[in-house]
Amino acid sequence: MTDPKAHPAKAFRAAILHSLANPTDVGLEDSYQYFDDGVLLVADGHVVKVGHADDILPSLDPSVEVVVLENKLITPGFIDTHIHYPQTGMIAAYGEQLLDWLNNYTFPEEKRFADVNYAREVAVQFLDELARNGTTTALVFGTVHKESVDVFFQESEKRNLRMIAGKVLMDRNAPEDLTDTPESGYEDSKALIEKWHNKGRLHYAVTPRFAPTSTSEQLRLAGKLLEEYPDVYMHTHLSENQKEIEWVQELFPESKNYLDVYDQHGLLSSRSVFAHGIHLCDGECKRLQESDSAIAFCPTSNLFLGSGLFPLSEIEAKGIKVGMGTDVGAGTSFSLLQTMSEAYKVMQLQGKKLHPLKSLYQATLGGAKALSLDHLIGNFESGKEADFVVLDLHATQLMKFRMEHAQSLEDKLFVLMTLGDDRTVCDTYSYGQSVYNR
Ligand code: GUN
Ligand code: FE
Repeated sequence: MTDPKAHPAKAFRAAILHSLANPTDVGLEDSYQYFDDGVLLVADGHVVKVGHADDILPSLDPSVEVVVLENKLITPGFIDTHIHYPQTGMIAAYGEQLLDWLNNYTFPEEKRFADVNYAREVAVQFLDELARNGTTTALVFGTVHKESVDVFFQESEKRNLRMIAGKVLMDRNAPEDLTDTPESGYEDSKALIEKWHNKGRLHYAVTPRFAPTSTSEQLRLAGKLLEEYPDVYMHTHLSENQKEIEWVQELFPESKNYLDVYDQHGLLSSRSVFAHGIHLCDGECKRLQESDSAIAFCPTSNLFLGSGLFPLSEIEAKGIKVGMGTDVGAGTSFSLLQTMSEAYKVMQLQGKKLHPLKSLYQATLGGAKALSLDHLIGNFESGKEADFVVLDLHATQLMKFRMEHAQSLEDKLFVLMTLGDDRTVCDTYSYGQSVYNR
C-alpha cells in the first residue's frame, strides 16, 4: 500500500464529463454524466468521487486543496488501443500502401532498435508525446528486440502509467536482422512476461506482427504462451489491406479466412485486440463476437495508408468490442482528439454519423472495455484510478471564438474534437499525479 499521506486528497473544480456506458446500448442520455461546475476528488491515486461543486465542496475537509480551472473540461485520460512506439521516428512517410510502407520505411527504422540506447531515447520521446496528447493508457507494439520492450516498460514504470506492451514475433517475410525464431520468440516473450506482466500498472501482450510474418509454428507457440498465462493479452493486425488479405490466403491456403489463421492457433479471447479489421466477412465477425475479442479502429492510419473505411456501425451491430487506435506511425497523430475527428469523417464517407459523445466513449470507457480494464480505468466511478486530462476550451484563438458560439454540450464537445489537438491538453494526470503540464 502507498502511504496515503504521500498523495493527499486533492479536488479539481471545472466542467467535468465522463462516459457511463456505450450510447449505442443505453441511448445518449444515459451514456454520460456532465457537471458544468463539477469537482473531481482524488486521493492516493484513485477517484474518491465526482459531482456538482455545490454538492461536493461543503463536505470537503478544509485541508483539501481545491484547484480551480477556468474554461476547462476534465475528462478521463484517453486510451489508445493500438500504437507502435518504434514508429515515432518515421511517422508521415510518403507515398505507399501497407506492404511497401512496411518494407521501405518501417523495417529499416525498426532495425535501429537493436541499439538499446536508441530504443530508450525513442521510448522517452514517445511517452512524452502520449502525455502531451492526454493519453494515459495504450496497447503498444515494440520491435522484435526484447530489449525494446524492456526499456519501454522501465520508462512507463517511472511514470506510473497503466500500459500494455509486447515484443514483436516475426520469423519470416522480413529482413533477417528483424526476425526471431519460434523458440527464441517464445523464450524472450516468456522472460518479459515473468519480469513485467502485472508489475504495478503494467501488462504484457503476446504480439505476432501479423499472419504473413509468422510461421504456423511461431503462432502455435504464441498460443502456448496464452495458455500458460491466461490473463496476458494478444495483440496483432487483421484485415487491413486487400493485398495483405490475398497474401494471407496464399500463405495459409488451408484456413477459411484471415482471422481463422489466428483462431486455428488459439489466439482469440477476451484479451485479444486486432488492429483494423476493415474488410471482414460474416464468419470472421461471428468468431470475433463469440470469442469476445476487440478491434482497434484506427481512422488516421486507414486514411493515410489508403486501407479503407472501417464499418463501425456494422461491426458494433454484430456485438464486437471496438476501441480507438492512433496506429502511429501509419497513423498521423498521437492525439485521440484528432483521431476522433478523422473517425467522424470516415463515418461521413459511409453516409453515417458519429455523435461526439459516442466518440468520447470510444476513446475512454470503450477503450477500457476493449482492453478488459474497465474495472480500473475509463471513467470517474468511485474507486477507479485517477487518470484524467484537463482540456482547454480556449486553446486557440479559433477554438475560443467558436466556443463562444457553441450552445450545447454536444456542440462544445464536437468543436473540441474537430479543432483540438495537443494544444488543447493543459494537464495530464496519471494515478492522481501530474505527468504533463502545458
Ligand atoms: N501490419 C503489419 N505490421 C504493421 C504495422 O507496423 N503497421 C500497420 N498499420 N499495419 C501493419
Ligand atoms: Fe499497426
